[in-house]
Amino acid sequence: MINVTKTYLPPRKNYDELLDELWSSRILTNRGDLVQRLEEQLKQYLGIDHLLCVGNGTVAIQLAIRALGLSGEIVTTPFSYVATTSSVVWENCIPVFADIESDTLTIDPNRVEEAVTDRTSAILATHVFGNPCDVDAIEDIAKRHGLRVIYDAAHCFGVKYRDESMLTWGDVSTLSFHATKLFHTGEGGAVVCRDPEVAKRVYYMHNFGHRGPEDFQGLGINGKMSELQAAMGLAILPFIDKIIGARRIVTERYDEMLSFIGFSKPAIREGTEWNFAYYPVIFERSTDLEECIARLNSADVFPRRYFYPSLDSLPYVSARAGLPVSKRVADNILCLPLFHDLAESDQQLICRTVNC
Ligand SMILES: Cc1ncc(COP(=O)(O)O)c(C=O)c1O
Repeated sequence: MINVTKTYLPPRKNYDELLDELWSSRILTNRGDLVQRLEEQLKQYLGIDHLLCVGNGTVAIQLAIRALGLSGEIVTTPFSYVATTSSVVWENCIPVFADIESDTLTIDPNRVEEAVTDRTSAILATHVFGNPCDVDAIEDIAKRHGLRVIYDAAHCFGVKYRDESMLTWGDVSTLSFHATKLFHTGEGGAVVCRDPEVAKRVYYMHNFGHRGPEDFQGLGINGKMSELQAAMGLAILPFIDKIIGARRIVTERYDEMLSFIGFSKPAIREGTEWNFAYYPVIFERSTDLEECIARLNSADVFPRRYFYPSLDSLPYVSARAGLPVSKRVADNILCLPLFHDLAESDQQLICRTVNC
């Protein structure tokens, strides 16, 4: 059976050595040594100044919305994982969807501009599949309208744009380290802030608001990463360049072996050093997509419809007309299996099955 992804596991010895440290310290959470070490190593690897590890990529978005003090409407993408929208609603803000670009699948700045009202407090955009949003245009809109910018960078680990980490754009970027992501801690995530004051607020908020054992800075929740999660991250990080390199090879094999007749792939924005996080293909007709899924499933291959449905159809948001690109893409997109050790023979089977 070939699934859309396969969780990378580090050599057992590397993980065990870190667990030995926990068995000696008996410190399993509350920002122990391993979480702090992981944060330092991630900052260094990703080339950023303010990063805080948290329990998952969803709480990272919720903390970002809270720490920036957002309210009212947030202009956001309808083409992302559900957590992007649900976090907005969870934080009592109203998601207002702006359609996406048909080539990069990221939010279309022209549509963002049209969606801004005097109730808008921020733009929440996803670098979907690790493909950078049009960050210059978004920054320009945000400046002109006095808006905050959050990037859901859940797919963006290690991506660079114009030689800089993708995480340097926006007021806050959020990462997911879920087990399906190319860098993971089982469950986990991080908040990356541009402003140290915002970083400080996120820090207090993710730990119940504690400033000391008996002193509270303000309202907070439990958004902490545990030491067990951090151990997984520390054991994987030394292999991350190898993992990305192996995914590049798998991606290039798909590029060679797929026919691209009746389907196409999104364009990666120029100037991007990509991380090969996903291999999405977009069919011209949804009947072709459904037939392709059926053929793959009978060959024991299980791709996923990332991301379906378009998020404006969620039962807890107001429907918005005029999102034709997101609807068409969400209805017709399929992510093919992509992981570090996907065998060439398995890829041949997948491509034969997709192409016919
Ligand atoms: C774009 C996007 N945002 C947010 C999330 C939520 O992250 P997590 O599962 O770590 O909460 C995910 C994936 O799970 C995602 O793909």
